[in-house]
Amino acid sequence: MSGDIRVGIIGAGGIAQHAHIPGYKDAPGVKIVAVADPKEGRAQKVADHFDIPNAYTSAEDLLAAGGIDAVSICSPNAFHASQSIAALKAGLHVLCEKPMAISVPDAEAMIATAKETGKQLMIGMTNRFRPDTQTLRDYAQAGMLGDIYYFKAGWLRRSGIPGYGSWFTTKSQSGGGCLLDIGVHYLDLALWIAGFPKPVSVTGTTFAEFGPRGLALGNWGEDIYREGKQTFDVDDLATAFIRFEGGQVLTLEVSWAAHVGEGGENYIRFLGTKGGAEMSSRNGAEYPVRYFSDSFGSSYDSTVYVSPGRNTHWTEIKHFVSCIRGEAELAIKHEEALTVIKILSAIYESAKTGKSVQLS
Ligand SMILES: NC(=O)c1ccc[n+]([C@@H]2O[C@H](COP(=O)([O-])OP(=O)(O)OC[C@H]3O[C@@H](n4cnc5c(N)ncnc54)[C@H](O)[C@@H]3O)[C@@H](O)[C@H]2O)c1
Repeated sequence: MSGDIRVGIIGAGGIAQHAHIPGYKDAPGVKIVAVADPKEGRAQKVADHFDIPNAYTSAEDLLAAGGIDAVSICSPNAFHASQSIAALKAGLHVLCEKPMAISVPDAEAMIATAKETGKQLMIGMTNRFRPDTQTLRDYAQAGMLGDIYYFKAGWLRRSGIPGYGSWFTTKSQSGGGCLLDIGVHYLDLALWIAGFPKPVSVTGTTFAEFGPRGLALGNWGEDIYREGKQTFDVDDLATAFIRFEGGQVLTLEVSWAAHVGEGGENYIRFLGTKGGAEMSSRNGAEYPVRYFSDSFGSSYDSTVYVSPGRNTHWTEIKHFVSCIRGEAELAIKHEEALTVIKILSAIYESAKTGKSVQLS
């Protein structure tokens, strides 16, 4: 593709303003030409602020106006599939925020449409663009861990329920709570670093112990709660046990709200036949990437200080632009994104039925 890539932004909220718009502005040969958001005045305000020539109050109007090569879908989760499909059918490349979709059939339909139209469909798994997660992936790819048989990932927020009473905590618009919102990141990371083993069964549980009581709200939406709009019909903690074809096991835990240390924690750990590796942050402190193994009969441990990286969204967006230009292959494969949605759906199903879910 020669000339500037003309981009439209669908959904002009937090992630659009803080990540996608600045990310495209930082990418050479890209122009943001339109933005759409149904909230009164928001698209125009964002357009004025970021010097974007066209503002619309719906995704449909933005797509119908034409003159665009690619879009970022930054709307609430429930719209990801329909808006991605509409954009692909309009001949546009799509960068869709996570989670890809709120159901497996929706995710499959997105992939089928990308295949039919031949346009790029990338899912914004931002954390794959972090130098520290890439280091862990390099270790695994280089065989330093041997065969991974047990891995574990978690992201526990103490007090971080986003947008209380907004789409985030309303299942019909979000598809789910913390599991879909932040669990998706660490599930994807764990699977990607482990080389996407094939999942065979999933056991999951979900809880909502804080949200329904209006506790542990993040920096978002507290006024909404005070006004009495208290919709919270999603999970604020989820946990899962996932078995894979080769016998590997992954455990996952994630919360928007839980009685853990201030600052919460996130971690990812791999145990393999040759070595183990992990990275974590706890109570606001970052711990480096660590590797544990044996050398000539004694312990061999290494600690590597890799920056978690800044502006990983910008890196992600530059990668998307390279894919549009045919200079790179999608880092997030469609089958991988689909596997993540299948597991997340199975966790919710298992939580509902109290039984394990078999994945064929
Ligand atoms: N990759 C990440 O790290 C990351 C971080 C934050 C959010 N996200 C994802 O980005 C998406 C948006 O999250 P956010 O934090 O910006 O939320 P937000 O509430 O700040 O913004 C969402 C925007 O979408 C608009 N909107 C509502 N319905 C719409 C529709 N039908 N069409 C177009 N726009 C519509 C809202 O008016 C709002 O302006 C979510 O899917 C979220 O999971 C990803």
